[in-house]
Amino acid sequence: MKNKTVIVTGAASGIGKAAAILFAKNGANVIVSDLQESEGKAVVSDIISAGGKASFFKTDVAKSEEMEALVDFAVKTYGKLDVAVNNAGIGGEINPTADMSIEGWNKVISVNLNSLFYGMKYQIKAMLKNGSGSIVNISSILGSVGFAGSSGYSAAKHGVIGLTQTAALEYSAQNIRINAVGPGFIETPLLSGLNAEVKQQLVALHPIGRLGKSEEVAELIFWLSSDKSSFVTGSYYPVDGGYLAR
Ligand code: NAI
Repeated sequence: MKNKTVIVTGAASGIGKAAAILFAKNGANVIVSDLQESEGKAVVSDIISAGGKASFFKTDVAKSEEMEALVDFAVKTYGKLDVAVNNAGIGGEINPTADMSIEGWNKVISVNLNSLFYGMKYQIKAMLKNGSGSIVNISSILGSVGFAGSSGYSAAKHGVIGLTQTAALEYSAQNIRINAVGPGFIETPLLSGLNAEVKQQLVALHPIGRLGKSEEVAELIFWLSSDKSSFVTGSYYPVDGGYLAR
C-alpha cells in the first residue's frame, strides 16, 4: 500500500475509520471522507500523529456531484487513485414493509445503494486513466438474506452485490478489481440505538458467540484492496462469525 492513494467513505466512524487507520499504517495516502467533519478531521489527526498520511474531504455520498468532487480531490492531491472503499451507510428506518415510509425507503436506497453507483462512476474513470485499481464495496450479510423490519436496507445491500458483480465483469480485463464485503453485526455506532436485550438476540445469531469488531472487517477490506488478492474480482465475501452458515 506504500504511496497508494485510497479513498474511504464513512471513515469518521466504525468500520470505515478502522480501515482508514489500517491503510495509513501500511503507508497509503488516505482520504478520510464523511459527512461528519469534526470526527473525520480527528481521524486524520490521529493518523498524522502516528506518522501516517491522510486528508479529510467532506462528502455526502448520496450526492453524485460530491462523489465526483471527492475523486477529483484525490487525484489533485495525490496524483492518482488506486483504491476506493465505498463504506458510508446508514441503518435506515425499521418497520415492516407495508409500514415503511416512502421517505425512509428512498433515504436508505439513496445513501446505501445510489451512492455506490455515483462513487464507482467516477472512481472507475480515474482508475482507467491510472491503468489499475481496486474497489471494495461494503454490503452486509443482509446483502444475501432478508431481515424482518429492514426491507430497504436489505434491498440496498443486495443491490450493492449486483452492482459489484456487473462492474467487475465490465472492468476486470482493464485491471480494475471490484469486490463486496458482507459484515455480520459489528459493534459500531450504527448499532448504538439497540438495547442490551436486542443486542443479545443478535449475538445469538452469530455461531462464534459475539458481535464483530470493526478491525476484523478492516482486515478483509485491506486484503481485497491489496495486490495479495490479485486473482479476486466480482466476489462477495462475508465476514460474519458464521451468521450465514446457519
Ligand atoms: P457507523 O455509523 O459507525 O459509520 C458510518 C459512517 O458513515 C458515519 O461516520 C457516518 O457519518 C457516515 N455517513 C452516513 N451517511 C453518510 C452520507 N450520506 N455521506 C457520507 N457519510 C455518511 O457505521 P458502520 O457500522 O461502521 O457502517 C459502515 C458500513 O458497514 C455501512 O455501509 C453499513 O451498512 C455496513 N455494515 C455495518 C454493519 C454493522 O453491524 N455495524 C453490518 C453490516 C454492514
